[in-house]
Amino acid sequence: MGAVPIKENVYWVGAVDWNVRDFHGYSTWKGTTYNAYLVTDDKITLFDTVKESHRGELIHHLHEVLGGDLTRIDYIVVNHVEMDHSGSLAEMVARIKPEKVFCSPMGHKALLEHFHHQDWPYEVVKTGDTLKLGKKTVRFLETKMLHWPDSMFSYIPEDKLLISSDAFGQHWATSERFADQVAAPELMTHAAKYYANILLLYSPLVQKLLATVQEMGLVIDMIAPDHGLIWRGNPGVILEAYDRWSRQEAARKALVIYDTMWHSTEKMAKAIVSGLTAEGVSVQLLNLRVSHRSDILTEVLDARGLVFGSPTLNNNMMPRMADFLTYLKGLRPKGKIGTAFGSYGWSGEAVKHITAAMEEMGIELVDPGQKLKYVPDHDGLRGCVELGRKVAKAM
Ligand code: FEO
Repeated sequence: MGAVPIKENVYWVGAVDWNVRDFHGYSTWKGTTYNAYLVTDDKITLFDTVKESHRGELIHHLHEVLGGDLTRIDYIVVNHVEMDHSGSLAEMVARIKPEKVFCSPMGHKALLEHFHHQDWPYEVVKTGDTLKLGKKTVRFLETKMLHWPDSMFSYIPEDKLLISSDAFGQHWATSERFADQVAAPELMTHAAKYYANILLLYSPLVQKLLATVQEMGLVIDMIAPDHGLIWRGNPGVILEAYDRWSRQEAARKALVIYDTMWHSTEKMAKAIVSGLTAEGVSVQLLNLRVSHRSDILTEVLDARGLVFGSPTLNNNMMPRMADFLTYLKGLRPKGKIGTAFGSYGWSGEAVKHITAAMEEMGIELVDPGQKLKYVPDHDGLRGCVELGRKVAKAM
């Protein structure tokens, strides 16, 4: 794959990681990309680098555009310090010997004190600061906590181009570089999964950011994120989706998420699904043994009802349920209702522990939960159907 022109004198020079399958707990089952961009104006400027393992691809792409001489690059802009974007920064600074390295105040602190410990020729920029490159200008916008404290956007008004760091990305390795070159449903599924797993907890900040972009009057016809495909021509599609996702608007949809030991809790789960569907609710039945936590989060994004099931194991819930609830709690979903269920043998604490976790994360309990001893009988399952109906009616 070569460097790709995305605007006049602006190139994608990043790397495609076809093989990565885990991104701090997120299942990247179709890989990802680490996008970096090069602007060749009077001042030649590199925006972000790539994961250390992929620096060869970045160097190859830069050589291709610059005729083999990396020292022609004047500036490096570090929009985000996380290692998938700054992992090869030290080597790139050594090769390029830039006149300046631009970053946010938090980026400066992180790079100097915590990541690379080298006193590079930093220039710290804040929201509203501008940098003249020649014909093009860069306007900086700090985007704290989207997705780290140091994150920022770089906007080039002459190109109506927003280089957006982690925001608006997708973990999806493709040979195409633009969103309009791939199938829209799959693209939006990857974008939704990315939002649900990385940005959901920062939804109030996303709302503020979208308002700031409007207030600043940024005219945008291309959004170039640090992962996945570039939105060109109609970036409104992803801006509108971020507005919707960050409002956490829910559909009449429920998830029944469970683990099971000897299929008793699974029988209860299926009975609850029957009750929900009888009331016209769209349901996903998700067994934690075959559904990855990060794929379930994609479904959580627009679900109103969350029903969790686990048998009791050693006075507690099953480990996969504990894993999932811990992950979910960190992402702080809003506006959810639900309950819990599970079979047990003698003590039966799983439902109590699950409902406590649900209350802790602000999920409204519509029922204290249903637990059944050993293998559920007909009456027990009828109670589970009723539990499903009860959740549906509360939605
Ligand atoms: Fe793609 Fe927050 O790093």
